[in-house]
Amino acid sequence: MHFQWFPGHMTKAIRSMREDLKLIDLVIELADARIPISSRNPEIDSLVQGKTRILLLNKRDMADSSSTSAWIKHFESQGIYAMAINAKQKNEIRAVSDLIAKACHEKRERDLKRGIKNRPVRAMIVGIPNVGKSTFINTYAGRASTKTGNKPGVTRGKQWIRLNKGVDGTVELLDTPGILWPKFEDQIVGLHLAWIGSIRDELIINTDLALDLIEFLQEFYPDVFEKVYGFLPNEDSVRVLNQLAEARGCKSKGGAPDLDRAAFLLLDDFRNARLGTITIEKP
Ligand code: G4P
Repeated sequence: MHFQWFPGHMTKAIRSMREDLKLIDLVIELADARIPISSRNPEIDSLVQGKTRILLLNKRDMADSSSTSAWIKHFESQGIYAMAINAKQKNEIRAVSDLIAKACHEKRERDLKRGIKNRPVRAMIVGIPNVGKSTFINTYAGRASTKTGNKPGVTRGKQWIRLNKGVDGTVELLDTPGILWPKFEDQIVGLHLAWIGSIRDELIINTDLALDLIEFLQEFYPDVFEKVYGFLPNEDSVRVLNQLAEARGCKSKGGAPDLDRAAFLLLDDFRNARLGTITIEKP
């Protein structure tokens, strides 16, 4: 995955989102359960002011479940409707409908008082690249959905996916997600996005990234090295990278440890959850 944002992109994204938001009752924000801070857009609050919102921490299968529970409690304590999901699993996503019903309860009551019955809730998915927006739409809408086609007032080309009518009424989902950008100017945000593989930049040096990751793992998940690679880690991260090169048989032509290769393998193992379920940001 590779993305690069310029001021022009952001202006365009904001403009297009403002247009879409006029049609929307409910904003469904997706974030990555491993980095619930860095994978959110700092301007979301001002962008979606006044809309009903829910927050889904996606890729929960890759995050540490105790941290995920703590995050959900944290967001709930801020009055945010939140839940953790794995967007690839249809059976997990069903529970999202209940959360939507809960979040939209007030709107439906208001509608009823005004004599409006069965007006569908119109929802939109938003999030930074790679958090799983398309996966979510595909899994959630699934085969049971029907496309309702263009409607007056809707920008040409926009499609609403009508989700199955439940006891609490119909939900219509805009088929194109709103794409937000992360807070790039924050170095920690950039580092965490790079660890999970959401920024692939030629300027990022894998060995530096791996050394930082080793230091993080030493502090929060110290057992990983023994469990996954079978060695007890040295206190010094450069030495650990050497140990890793040894354990994984990474050698340069002359026989010296190939640290670039070891760094690449560590990052690849981490990004594919082969190091286990790990949450980078704690509440
Ligand atoms: P986006 O629209 O927000 O940019 O994200 P997208 O759905 O394209 O998902 C980005 C990557 O994250 C995809 O992997 C997707 O399969 C994966 N993904 C989405 N949700 C989950 C989840 O809950 N758990 C896990 N483990 N992965 C998830 P990819 O490698 O880019 O594509 P593919 O190999 O799956 O085709």
